[in-house]
Amino acid sequence: MTGAAGAPVTGTGRAWWRDAVVYEVYLRSFADSDDDGVGDLGGLRSRLPYLADLGVDALWITPWYPSPMADGGYDVADYCDIDPRFGTLDDADALLAEAHALGLRLIVDLVANHTSEQHPWFRAALAAGPGSPERDRYFFRNGRAGGAEPPNDWISAFGGPAWSRVREADGSPGQWYLHLFAPQQPDLDWTHPGVREDFDAVLRFWFDRGVDGIRVDAAPAMAKVTGLPDAGHAPGALFESRTWVGNPHWDVDEVHDILRRWRRIGDSYGGDRLFVTEAVVNGPERLSRYVRPDEMHTSFNFDYLTCPWDARSLRAVIDASLAALEPVGAPATWVLSSHDETRHATRFGRARTGAATMGFDTGAPSADRELGLRRARAAALLTLALPGSAYLYQGEELGLPEVEDLPEEALQDPTWERSGRTARGRDGCRVPLPWRGERPPFGFTEDGVAPWLPQPPGWATMTVAAQEGDPASTLSLYRAALQLRRRLPELAGAPLTWVDSGDDVLALDRGPAFRCVVNLSGEPLDVTAHGRVLVASGPCDGRLQPDTAAWFATGGT
Ligand code: GLC
Repeated sequence: MTGAAGAPVTGTGRAWWRDAVVYEVYLRSFADSDDDGVGDLGGLRSRLPYLADLGVDALWITPWYPSPMADGGYDVADYCDIDPRFGTLDDADALLAEAHALGLRLIVDLVANHTSEQHPWFRAALAAGPGSPERDRYFFRNGRAGGAEPPNDWISAFGGPAWSRVREADGSPGQWYLHLFAPQQPDLDWTHPGVREDFDAVLRFWFDRGVDGIRVDAAPAMAKVTGLPDAGHAPGALFESRTWVGNPHWDVDEVHDILRRWRRIGDSYGGDRLFVTEAVVNGPERLSRYVRPDEMHTSFNFDYLTCPWDARSLRAVIDASLAALEPVGAPATWVLSSHDETRHATRFGRARTGAATMGFDTGAPSADRELGLRRARAAALLTLALPGSAYLYQGEELGLPEVEDLPEEALQDPTWERSGRTARGRDGCRVPLPWRGERPPFGFTEDGVAPWLPQPPGWATMTVAAQEGDPASTLSLYRAALQLRRRLPELAGAPLTWVDSGDDVLALDRGPAFRCVVNLSGEPLDVTAHGRVLVASGPCDGRLQPDTAAWFATGGT
């Protein structure tokens, strides 16, 4: 059954995005169909049946627009087209139709805080010179100290100052422009009416084509305090937006005017279009402001993603997230990995299990692979048992680790250079997927073609083909859990109730018949009283082993 623009319909009357499992497709690394070593829409189309079988509800596709790829496509040169490396608009239309036919919804990524330096607006601004209306779409300012110093102390998420100086047409050093990310990503000035109107048209362009949702990239960056006052950053400060209060370039109140404007556009379409924001802000209360009834529907939960593998901390984050969202009526989201963070199968095997964003934690001590994977599998069951929507990052269903030993010459993430080569950045979580075979490129691209990032030869045992027939594999675990999640009505809607089980155990009920238990203690845990095991992430024969989780049919009370 299909609804508006061919989108699948669930028939329950409950909006699909309230409990959806969304799979993040990092397009460059998913599957390559034209043998250039870069993933593309053809590759994704050919693997849609794999994603439908996995049991996810929707796909979020990272930016597919024409881009110089200074930041992996998050530097957009044209918002209404597809990069030739990925395919064409016809391919995107075909992908949408095929995904919908398989019951999968599609979410596109909108990067509106900044454009590429190659976008015609920025090129026009550079050419037009100081004081021109073209420069008003961005933040061009004169420098301090006679022009030699940046206009203020703002910093870039990738390290270093958030300002770069241009050469004017006559070759003289000129104004500075703002970029909260890489210098190739100039920030737009969202107080400019033309910027607002042009993005209204971009939203309509994609909604008209039938996309089911939009991920709003870097939402808290989109408004700045008038006058661009100093933020008071200490020299060498990192972009730790989860700790900032009253920062003039992040989570400024006027962001919400933009989000409300977009929500009105989404609501003007039939069906159930979703907005999900990426908002790394200071705690659940600030986050809940992004999902007020007239703003976005959901927002990624970075407090959960960055939380250490520790029962007390996890429970506190889960409780605080649910409590903050309750008053605004929005569902929580749960996410463990993405194209921006160290993969959790590696993180959870480190001495320090919490995450730092943007690849700033890859200098961390090396991981115990086996421990990390065991915990990652348990974490998957916990995540999929929580009320709300869950986001999976491609490859986590295979238990892929972070690739921590990419050769330096292979690194492409701007974080590497911007941090003065101290943080390796995010390439280690972006290594192309292994599909089949004994050696690279593991079916990602044609044999003999080098993927854009090298894959470890040791991934032969982690390919989709190697895991498919193995009931103990991580892929089988994800499939089983996702199928159960669809089948058990309490996993869509029933509230969470904690069951007291001691400090190092998480035990939660969803309704009277379902229980999830996670053993974070160092000892096996007697679970015979909990009921019949539905699925377990590891050995569970009356005793649940350390760092293992299980779902139980509790049979009702
Ligand atoms: C978001 C994206 C990240 C990108 C940044 C700048 O955080 O997830 O990959 O580098 O925005 O657009």
